[in-house]
Amino acid sequence: MSDFYEKMLKNGTGRKVLQSVGLPTPVELTRYTGQAVFFHGNILIGASKNATLLNQLSKTLLDAKATTFFPANSKYANHIKRALEHHGQTPIQTNCEKGAVSEKFDALVFDATGFEKTKDLKELYNFFSPVIKSLNSNGRILILGKPHMASTSAEQAACMRSLEGFSRSLAKEIGKKGATAQVIYVEDGAEHLSSSAIRFVLSPKSAYVDGQVINVSKADKEISIDWRRPLANKTALVTGGSRGIGESIASVLARDGAKVYVLDIEATKADLEKVAKEIGGVALVGDITAKETPEMIADAVKQNGGLDIIVHNAGITRDKTIGNMPEHFWDMTIDINLSSEETINEYLLENNVLNEGGRIVCVSSMNGIAGQVGQSNYATSKAGVIGYVEYMAKQLAKKKITINAVAPGFIETAMTDAIPFMTREVGRRMNSMSQGGKPVDVAETIAFFSAPDSNGVNGNVIRVCGQCLIGA
Ligand SMILES: NC(=O)c1ccc[n+]([C@@H]2O[C@H](COP(=O)([O-])OP(=O)(O)OC[C@H]3O[C@@H](n4cnc5c(N)ncnc54)[C@H](O)[C@@H]3O)[C@@H](O)[C@H]2O)c1
Repeated sequence: MSDFYEKMLKNGTGRKVLQSVGLPTPVELTRYTGQAVFFHGNILIGASKNATLLNQLSKTLLDAKATTFFPANSKYANHIKRALEHHGQTPIQTNCEKGAVSEKFDALVFDATGFEKTKDLKELYNFFSPVIKSLNSNGRILILGKPHMASTSAEQAACMRSLEGFSRSLAKEIGKKGATAQVIYVEDGAEHLSSSAIRFVLSPKSAYVDGQVINVSKADKEISIDWRRPLANKTALVTGGSRGIGESIASVLARDGAKVYVLDIEATKADLEKVAKEIGGVALVGDITAKETPEMIADAVKQNGGLDIIVHNAGITRDKTIGNMPEHFWDMTIDINLSSEETINEYLLENNVLNEGGRIVCVSSMNGIAGQVGQSNYATSKAGVIGYVEYMAKQLAKKKITINAVAPGFIETAMTDAIPFMTREVGRRMNSMSQGGKPVDVAETIAFFSAPDSNGVNGNVIRVCGQCLIGA
């Protein structure tokens, strides 16, 4: 949010005026400010029979300040209680029958990994219907499942895929109070790798991530880290790091402990150096489309023992409807937003500049998913990024490297400030949260992908869009 509208929202009378004329009055989202715990509050946990993630969930919550509850009326109450106790929780049994719920909750988590038959889906209704109104603003809903294509029957596949439709609908019902709903699918045998995703979803770091699906797949061993400084001793490079989203990515990665190289074009040199100075990083002036840039990056990071994280953030728009688009608009956009990423990665991989356990994160866009008038070049490039990430994930897994993408929606930057008022207002409000996101929301998602304990998070595309109503 910005300008006049934001001022009105922050003022009690202004809010009432906006409400009275039927305009959206979004809740201010709670974002991460370096809290000692990733989650603080009441969490209600439900589960199906044979749920497989309760132990890992319980273990993950040891780093939170959570009071855990389980529904007394659940068929599997004893199973939930035992699993939570196994990892040091002291869960409280609470009456969750309709009309009898006395607690307020900051998170509702349901482990649906044991669903086999479509009749099991009724458990979603039984768990969520009585308690959904007791979810606090800025609350979290998390549903845990297994990837549907790894199911052992068609009926189970239907159940698992159902979780997406269910959680996306809940996200739309609770978005107005700044609350979010997501699904995490965890492959059999990858349960021990699910903590980083659980932590991200439950924390304020995912404030503007809504209605999304995160897949956790089998990888190596569980990597234990200090989640408050997960990138200690890591070296990262952020392209387009002089301003906007890139600047925020650089500062969040530095906050998380990484030595950060920020790269941008000559024209941005003063801003780039300022960013580098502020985060104790290094400024690299270069054009990502230039032939010499991959080698320049490799030379620069050599003294730090190579690169652990590369974030391909630099991007441009050159908008025109296809019939009016000059050829160089097409060429530049594809080159900067897509081809140069491939060229740089190829060089870094071939020359072993990207270390084992490396992380590649690409920045796509919601318009790459939904398409946009006047952006055939941009949407082509950003959809290409998604295809590239999905294909490369399998190749890179062999080298213990992950590759993922974020697809931002409407993020408040200099780029979006330049959009005419009415178009900007529509773009900003057309999501479940009725507001634009901040660069830090994209940056936090990238930091989650970059963390060493996200080694099971590979080939994902997460939209950071407050569940934008267009696209997926
Ligand atoms: N702002 C949004 O709402 C939004 C939405 C979806 C996707 N994105 C994507 O997020 C990324 C960052 O967006 P932003 O809003 O911060 O944009 P921005 O224009 O503020 O920043 C982009 C940066 O990339 C740099 N850059 C451009 N061409 C380059 C080149 N050839 N070599 C090196 N650097 C180059 C620019 O100098 C600039 O500093 C882009 O990839 C953009 O497409 C933004």
